[in-house]
Amino acid sequence: MGKLPKGEITTYTDFGKVQGGMRTSYAYHTGQEAYDLYMGARYLQDMLFYDQGKVDIVFQPEDLRDNNRKYAGLVACKEGVDHLTYYEVGSSAFGVIEALEYLNKEYNLLNIKNINFIGVDNSDWMNYVAVNCHSNYKVEVYEDAKNATHIECDFFFAKGISLMYAYQDEESMCNMLKKSRLAVFDYTFAKGERIVDHVGTGLGVTYLDFNKCNELLNVDGKILINKPYIIKKYNQGMNRVTYDCIYGDKDVVDNYLSELQKTTGESLDNYGDPKFIRQEEFEYY
Ligand SMILES: C[S@@+](CC[C@H](N)C(=O)[O-])C[C@H]1O[C@@H](n2cnc3c(N)ncnc32)[C@H](O)[C@@H]1O
Repeated sequence: MGKLPKGEITTYTDFGKVQGGMRTSYAYHTGQEAYDLYMGARYLQDMLFYDQGKVDIVFQPEDLRDNNRKYAGLVACKEGVDHLTYYEVGSSAFGVIEALEYLNKEYNLLNIKNINFIGVDNSDWMNYVAVNCHSNYKVEVYEDAKNATHIECDFFFAKGISLMYAYQDEESMCNMLKKSRLAVFDYTFAKGERIVDHVGTGLGVTYLDFNKCNELLNVDGKILINKPYIIKKYNQGMNRVTYDCIYGDKDVVDNYLSELQKTTGESLDNYGDPKFIRQEEFEYY
């Protein structure tokens, strides 16, 4: 292995041209601006692709699998509830709405316009798009998880990386999870004390202590299911472990699993199996 770079991390985007082997840069951005301009465009493009039914070309190969899980999760919660509440930390531009609308064309089990969508995202850009591209839906966004500690929801979803950005202590993350009837997320835990680090986006992350979270989430009537997350093997070292997690009221978790099996065939026996993910010719890292 070559030398690992050291020192402060800067994220950047560089827009320009190459002509006759010569590169000219027209726009160079760093930090949050670079993140918003690149990731924001990517999320908007995915919203368009779901809207057009072009699900084979959304950016992340696991995106449709994740959205199938969100759909099954909301269906699992819907009995006896007039207005479901969907809560996501790291909600980005709330592209989940286009994805659910896409799946609803096939299953027709939800009224997406009746769902309360609540999100936390630290990016002004993402929050602006989340609200203004979905003016026909019920959308509420917060910039900081600390301002959303009162949120109770039917279904919670997050990508592990978003949780690792947003929560720096076990109590805050677990208190939020305990307020959901069903939570579906992946997470890379520290096997011992929490670890503070940076990832490739330049943002800081905290890997929370697995045993502490396990204890805090151990509540009467709720269960936590952890399945080793096969794709992110690279995160599993001496001191970290990545899981696909399902947490919530036992009856709702059961509903979720049976709903998911019905629609996609994913079950506890094969949860997270790469066969549910679009296969690429190369691996993303
Ligand atoms: C991997 S993306 C989320 C993925 C997306 N919502 C999905 O379903 O695929 C991570 C999101 O977390 C947001 N983020 C970064 N730091 C954050 C923080 N401290 N609190 C909340 N969100 C944060 C980013 O702006 C970004 O939209």
